[in-house]
Amino acid sequence: MRTDIIRFLKDSSGYISGEMISKELHISRSAVWKAIEELRREGYRIAALPKRGYLLEASPDRLIAAELQSGLKAKIIGKTIHCFDSVESTMDVAFKLGGEGSAEGTIVCAETQTRGKGRMGRLWTSPEGTGIYFSVILRPALSTAEVPRLTLLAAVAVCEALRQTGCDARIKWPNDILINGKKVCGILTELNGDIDRVRFVVVGVGINVNTPVKVLPPNATSLKQESGKKMNRLECFREVLSFMDEYYQEMLVQGFDKAIQRWKELSVTLGRRVRMIDHGVSIEGEAVDLDEYGGLMIKTPNGSLIRRMSGDVSHV
Ligand code: BTN
Repeated sequence: MRTDIIRFLKDSSGYISGEMISKELHISRSAVWKAIEELRREGYRIAALPKRGYLLEASPDRLIAAELQSGLKAKIIGKTIHCFDSVESTMDVAFKLGGEGSAEGTIVCAETQTRGKGRMGRLWTSPEGTGIYFSVILRPALSTAEVPRLTLLAAVAVCEALRQTGCDARIKWPNDILINGKKVCGILTELNGDIDRVRFVVVGVGINVNTPVKVLPPNATSLKQESGKKMNRLECFREVLSFMDEYYQEMLVQGFDKAIQRWKELSVTLGRRVRMIDHGVSIEGEAVDLDEYGGLMIKTPNGSLIRRMSGDVSHV
């Protein structure tokens, strides 16, 4: 019901009467009033005038499902959104929901994570109320080998969304988003399935939006730091979900070509000299291309081509 009331307040161009809301939602006037009080406690600024009704003056800087969904045109991604104040990791919550049969496109987000997961067993710093931390459940008809391309697709979508803020966001293989050479976003993919069949995939995205750089690891940055202005997390999140939806739908019909093509255009890795530590051995060479599964092709000084599906690259 709260979601509907927020929608009414947002959609009305001026004051909207309590009577109108109660009629439309088939609830009593006092139930409307109670819900308005609850919203105020959550940080919504709602003016009230006798005979005229309610007017939404400001929404809180919080990731609230109703807020995220209002105006979101996505068809698959974000149809259901679960927002939490604090979780250990949105990956674990989404994984559990996926196992219980939650629909494709379901989002789990949190204001903070007490044990946010990064790639290669690292932790993802998730300070409260300043970043976007979410996981999305996907159920594509793909084999396990094809899943890395889904991660590339997610990187492209997030990168496109961040570029809408005016930042020159770029992708470092496989899926770090950098601005001015510093990491602003990381993506982690986990899957449930066996060798030839994916049951579901959870793609987790962490974006440093207004996060002070002093609490971030070295060489990380935030959108605020790079743009010099505080960003609206809700708008940014909606943008990310819209681009993800667009690229995902395109992939379902036409395959990965468009996403991979765009990945190559946005890449800061291809054409660069890179170093990669693989099982303790350092490989150096030129990153020349992606292979058909999203692996990185590295041409070593002796002319041989090496393909790597995972790992950390540094630009030399
Ligand atoms: C990386 O190491 O670059 C990947 C970081 C992924 C972080 C996100 S935050 C939301 C989701 N929940 C997690 O625990 N991790 C991912």
